[in-house]
Amino acid sequence: MTGVVVVTGSASGLGAHVCARAANEGWTVAGIDITGGDYRADVRDPAQLRRAFADIRDRYGRIAGLVNSAGLTRPGPSATLPEADWRMVVDVDLSGTFFACQAAFEHLAEGASIVNISSIAAARGLPERAAYSAAKAGVTGLTNALAAEWGPQGHRVNAVGPAWTNTPLVQKMIAGGVVDLKSVVDAIPLGRLCTEDDVASAVLFLLSDRAAFVNGQTLYVDGGYAAAG
Ligand SMILES: NC(=O)c1ccc[n+]([C@@H]2O[C@H](COP(=O)([O-])OP(=O)(O)OC[C@H]3O[C@@H](n4cnc5c(N)ncnc54)[C@H](O)[C@@H]3O)[C@@H](O)[C@H]2O)c1
Repeated sequence: MTGVVVVTGSASGLGAHVCARAANEGWTVAGIDITGGDYRADVRDPAQLRRAFADIRDRYGRIAGLVNSAGLTRPGPSATLPEADWRMVVDVDLSGTFFACQAAFEHLAEGASIVNISSIAAARGLPERAAYSAAKAGVTGLTNALAAEWGPQGHRVNAVGPAWTNTPLVQKMIAGGVVDLKSVVDAIPLGRLCTEDDVASAVLFLLSDRAAFVNGQTLYVDGGYAAAG
């Protein structure tokens, strides 16, 4: 099944790449981002999301796919992490994912597929990533809960957990010295960073009928990073 897919965080990185790949594979794509794009909305604000999803439904019809890629990180030593950084990461990455699922629900087509972008940080402890790890592990819990709750209505809810992916977010961390590229690549058994295509392939699989009986899973796209850790 293809149809209308909504992608949050569509203006950059993984979200933008998923939009391009989904369009190539025949999906009608509607992007939502705080910086604009097709629809401007802040995923922290349920009212803005409700308006965006209602507009998308009016324009394109019922929604067959939702990809929650809006996210950010604020790395730092846990003992001194500013409260505002903790709240920002949890608000955007975890609450924003829930609010988007919630706003989409009444507009979903039968047999819709939701894919939440989690992270390897949900599976493997990373120093100075307490807020991000907690938020992304929360996304796994949220994914499981919605899979159980909405499965009986025919909807599937899964997550994709990328390892370090070559996107503006990671490039900024490498440039700022927050991430050491060599030690990251050395820790990945397949010996390279994840690409946007690697992630988009997993997302498109979970959106598609090829994953018709896959529900409540977090698929780590990490070159073996978590398994080897
Ligand atoms: N890049 C990686 O290595 C990596 C690894 C694992 C998981 N992820 C996850 O993938 C997702 C996308 O990351 P990316 O690397 O593409 O980052 P990115 O910064 O390139 O893109 C994130 C997008 O989300 C949007 N956004 C941020 N806050 C928002 C808000 N409040 N409301 C609406 N939109 C908002 C931004 O404007 C941006 O367009 C995130 O959830 C991130 O945690 C990334």
